[in-house]
Amino acid sequence: MKTIVIGSDHGGFHLKQACIKALGEWGYEVLDQGPDCLDSCDYPVYAAKVVDLVKADDAKLGVLICGTGQGMTMTANRLGVRAALCTNEYHARMAREHNDARVLCLGERVTGLGVALGILKAFLETGFGGERHQRRIDLIDSLAKK
Ligand code: RB5
Repeated sequence: MKTIVIGSDHGGFHLKQACIKALGEWGYEVLDQGPDCLDSCDYPVYAAKVVDLVKADDAKLGVLICGTGQGMTMTANRLGVRAALCTNEYHARMAREHNDARVLCLGERVTGLGVALGILKAFLETGFGGERHQRRIDLIDSLAKK
């Protein structure tokens, strides 16, 4: 069974709960890194929890949700995983197939529930294409080290 690590801030809390429910129904194991209530909180804290677990296990994928998705995306990429902010299913498929994104970022305040769940499903059901895409991903890391 595939394990999905998920986290949000207060701005993404309701969508996180809906994603957890859907993921369970689709047969995934879910590791919820919080928060567990709607109190105002800081998105980098939860991004770091999810990134740590995703980086530690190649088999895991992550989902991070805030109000816009921007703060989660910036934080996760800075912390060293490829994270993609997706607003439609094509974004999600390409983020996996071309970019081998390990973390999906969503914005609860910009993406409706039905669309968000479609994006989540597309992200999880699409594999990495390899070949030329692997070369390009390797370039990201080698250029970042300069
Ligand atoms: C919180 O108000 C909001 O700034 C946060 O959820 C996110 O959108 C940041 O990028």
